[in-house]
Amino acid sequence: MRAIVCEAYGPPDSLTEQDLPVPEPKGTEVRVRVAATGLGFVDGLMIQGLYQVRPPLPYRPGSEFAGVVDAVGPDCSTLAPGDRVFGNAPGALADFVCTDAARCFRTPDALDDASAASLVVNYPTALYGLRDCANLEAGETVLVLGASGGVGLAAIATARAFGARVVAAASTDAKRAVAKGAGANATVDYTQPDWRDALRACCPDGLNVVCDPVGGDVAEPAFRSLSPGGRFLVIGFAGGTIPRLPLNLALLKRSSIVGVDWGGESRAHPELLGQMLGDISTMIDAGTLKVAPVSARPATDYVTALEDQLGGRITGKLVLIRPHGTGT
Ligand SMILES: NC(=O)c1ccc[n+]([C@@H]2O[C@H](COP(=O)([O-])OP(=O)(O)OC[C@H]3O[C@@H](n4cnc5c(N)ncnc54)[C@H](OP(=O)(O)O)[C@@H]3O)[C@@H](O)[C@H]2O)c1
Repeated sequence: MRAIVCEAYGPPDSLTEQDLPVPEPKGTEVRVRVAATGLGFVDGLMIQGLYQVRPPLPYRPGSEFAGVVDAVGPDCSTLAPGDRVFGNAPGALADFVCTDAARCFRTPDALDDASAASLVVNYPTALYGLRDCANLEAGETVLVLGASGGVGLAAIATARAFGARVVAAASTDAKRAVAKGAGANATVDYTQPDWRDALRACCPDGLNVVCDPVGGDVAEPAFRSLSPGGRFLVIGFAGGTIPRLPLNLALLKRSSIVGVDWGGESRAHPELLGQMLGDISTMIDAGTLKVAPVSARPATDYVTALEDQLGGRITGKLVLIRPHGTGT
């Protein structure tokens, strides 16, 4: 099978495509014929050795997949060949992946492969952040920074599913249009010096939650815009710099700074992935969670796709599709 391999940490063009044996599922594992692989900013950091988790080399990038079960191990009784699934396993940027059946979930009927692959990391991150860390309530207002990115769009969709109002901050007209299309009620251009004024105009009843996967210079003005009781969700630093907030702000604004590390939480409690994706599937089936459109590219374009991801040029979740995969 064809698989992408990272032999030394470096930029996307240092990855190699190799012919490797098709893996055999053991025990409770299943083998999935991959149709679509989700990628995120984390993957771009990881191949360069810049993420907090540095996999031993060589390693195979990509962890989010959707596809069809192709074979099952002798002790697997929950899935069968032909089942459409999505899930999480290392080495998903390949024709086949083997993983324990417990990390593989039935694809909701309404979703194509590309949309299913987009769910695996960003939607649990958004749900964990907004529901479990921020206790988001219907009627509250959420500001999503980097709103057209993978985490940003998942946060918009999730906040809307909980009955919140969403203001989306993004850097270009095209990105703000994507955020609007994903359900944002209003948008602001956070590259403008007076963007807090525009934000204030969008939030006549106050701002309750900030979802921040960007960091850098936009974090502090966003924090200062919170109403009393506000929650600021620290999700990531795609902007490249880690903001330093004076702690007196938390006191003056009577607001909380909450670290949202879904990756760490799900490594500490592996059973949470299934619970979270189960909740997400239920919301999709009920029609309350509308999965945002993805940015789909052919799997052969993995180098430019990862370069564009790292350069902030992708709108929406990046998904690489193999020839038999479905999705636009
Ligand atoms: N905490 C967790 O559990 C968790 C889970 C998943 C991801 N993350 C983190 O969340 C962050 C976002 O991930 P993502 O997959 O959503 O990324 P993404 O799809 O690339 O989106 C990131 C957004 O950040 C903005 N941005 C600002 N400065 C940027 C720069 N210098 N380079 C690239 N983007 C820049 C861009 O929007 P504008 O152009 O509109 O500014 C872009 O749309 C990453 O730091 C990732 O590590 C955390």
